[in-house]
Amino acid sequence: MTDITRDVVIVGAGASGLTAANDLVKAGKTVAVLEARDRVGGRLWTREIDGAMLEIGGQWVSPDQDALIGTLEELGLETYSRYREGDSVYVDAAGALTTFTGEIFPVSAETQREMERLIGVLDELVAEIGIAAPWEHPRAKELDTVSWKAWLEAQTEDQEARDNIGLFIAEAMLTKPSHAISALQAVQMAASAGSFSNLVDSDFILDKRVIGGLQSVPVALAEKLGDDVFLNQPVRRIEHDDDSVTVVADGMTVSAKRVIVAVPPNLYSRIDFQPALPRRQHQMHQHLSLGLVIKVHAVYDRPFWREAGLSGTAFSPYETVHEAYDNTNHADPKGTLVGFVSDETADGLFALSDEERKQRVLTSLSHYYGEQALTPEVYYESDWGTEEWTRGAYAASFDLGGLSRYGADLRTPVGVIHWSCSDLAAEGFQHVDGAIRVGRETAAAIVSDLNA
Ligand code: FDA
Repeated sequence: MTDITRDVVIVGAGASGLTAANDLVKAGKTVAVLEARDRVGGRLWTREIDGAMLEIGGQWVSPDQDALIGTLEELGLETYSRYREGDSVYVDAAGALTTFTGEIFPVSAETQREMERLIGVLDELVAEIGIAAPWEHPRAKELDTVSWKAWLEAQTEDQEARDNIGLFIAEAMLTKPSHAISALQAVQMAASAGSFSNLVDSDFILDKRVIGGLQSVPVALAEKLGDDVFLNQPVRRIEHDDDSVTVVADGMTVSAKRVIVAVPPNLYSRIDFQPALPRRQHQMHQHLSLGLVIKVHAVYDRPFWREAGLSGTAFSPYETVHEAYDNTNHADPKGTLVGFVSDETADGLFALSDEERKQRVLTSLSHYYGEQALTPEVYYESDWGTEEWTRGAYAASFDLGGLSRYGADLRTPVGVIHWSCSDLAAEGFQHVDGAIRVGRETAAAIVSDLNA
């Protein structure tokens, strides 16, 4: 067992923890980052699978993500645009395929009007409620105690409009069924991206990727910290008093003045806090859970869909794969498609054998891109639900009523214990941008506290 002493100990070497650690070092503080896995990056992970470079976790960067873009510039990392030339495809409830351009799916004129009206209503709500403190809005409780599904049902009788608008938040973002999330949580998700219109615009929200993969961010941040990042060190216990903390991992103990717990909130209860956390935190943390999504990668000898004039962008609330994109790597002659299977549909697929699940996914892709989609050279499913140190994807959200009840306390430190991760962010909520923002804010709060 190694014993070391630092000003601040950080639990978790994801984007958030590593950003905080770097900012603390810039401010003259000493740090140790303890990471449970044998790698840094957490939900960012670039792997080579059967010769193909795949981004297993987060990958896209949108133009409003100033904090992430600033970090990319600081680290000298280059980006490239997602391929988006040509037509997108949509499959309706009857299984009919239509091509389209722009954001609004090719539905009947009436459904299109309803979708546009709903987007307008949601844009107004987002502007009114904002992202800083949605729980403070006079309508917070009203919107937080009605499910996203029920809220949509109250807005329109048009089922297809509801299915499509619901998809953008439920399956595509929070990766939970629309009955399991509140309308306020939906508004918060949209507000974190600036507006609901931004969320439905895949050219905005899925704009760029990083050459070499987005995990290059935590890898470069960890390199700057050198020997102060300790891998294979799952933190088991945090002993704390008014002005000091002792963090016990499998192979080492760190004594420090402050600790930043930079892990997703569903994992807090895996750590033995001594003394135990206050009642409010015990309760609040039980109302936060991760969603579930399978990110599917299919690599072909070439991006064959482009030859048919397709961009690769595909949507259907009625398909196993509810959305898919051209995910071809920078300067790669091979063509890669990425698709997503969410929440209860993912549960259903995991009940199948590996081969049956693969066939179900590829068949769904073939509904969008034709028979060639059935025979990729490389096929891989990112399954974050089985990752011990994550347990779901993409991130955590509250159950019904949780955001208005607990939102204000989400990031409140408990004495010397601070919390940092994308799941607690305002702008950039559930995204790497949010992880970086919260990491910076947490480091700044600690520096000002320690220097006081
Ligand atoms: P993160 O979970 O990354 O880091 C926490 C770290 O703590 C992990 O390294 C973990 O191992 C470690 N840890 C946990 N418990 C520990 C313990 N007891 N002791 C020590 N260490 C411990 N975002 C985006 O911006 N664009 C995108 O395209 C996507 N897409 C996407 C796809 C998929 C499949 C996923 C899973 C996620 C995304 N995201 C995304 C979300 C994005 O990846 C995520 O929000 C951030 O990477 C989270 O960074 P954090 O540092 O907050 O947590």
